[in-house]
Amino acid sequence: MTRIGVLASGSGTNLQAILDACAAGTIPAQVAVVVVNVPAAPAKERALKSGVPVVTIDHREFASRAAFDTAVLAALELHQVEIVCLAGFLRLLSPLLIEHFKNKILNIHPALLPSWPGLHAQRQALEGGARFAGVTVHLVDSGTDTGPILLQAVVPVLPSDTEEQLSMRLRVLEHRLYPEAIRLVAEGRVRIEGRRAILDGAHWPAEEAALWCPSVP
Ligand code: GRF
Repeated sequence: MTRIGVLASGSGTNLQAILDACAAGTIPAQVAVVVVNVPAAPAKERALKSGVPVVTIDHREFASRAAFDTAVLAALELHQVEIVCLAGFLRLLSPLLIEHFKNKILNIHPALLPSWPGLHAQRQALEGGARFAGVTVHLVDSGTDTGPILLQAVVPVLPSDTEEQLSMRLRVLEHRLYPEAIRLVAEGRVRIEGRRAILDGAHWPAEEAALWCPSVP
């Protein structure tokens, strides 16, 4: 059983999806600890309800990012974490964590990277006139949302979409995609070649690969 550490700052719906997948046995892993940097984060409740230990490390109490990350690393090591999942964790990681868990830190981002990195990705896609939006699970490197891409899923942007409506459709995809990507890493099926993640044994059924395009008469 691979031991996962989840870092969260907010509502924790992705954390919930991970907890549910572990409980259902769909991924060969268990959440060993949840670390939150926001004392009031609802993610805490979700962890506690599942009997998972929660460590609150308030970043405002630390003089530097490195000092904060040192405390996070100590919590992860204490719980013998092997894979780290960022689930709405609104802090950049320092090299300390990234090097310690090299190619073992996953992040989920509500856009089709490398387009629309950073904050408010859904709004960026809408304002940028994108025809498609999506979700990316990637490995974390030292850039902002730049690491090797593991999985992506796509939805069309509808002309009537508000930021909220698009975000809701993307959220449903996130909850399917994140556990799937964790499974690939936990099963040791990810190989890194340059900037690419090669997924051993992955196949894409034709219907999944079908493109959705608006027709213009
Ligand atoms: C998600 O949209 C995720 O893609 C982004 O932060 C949000 C976290 O939501 N990284 P939740 O806390 O998992 O509900």
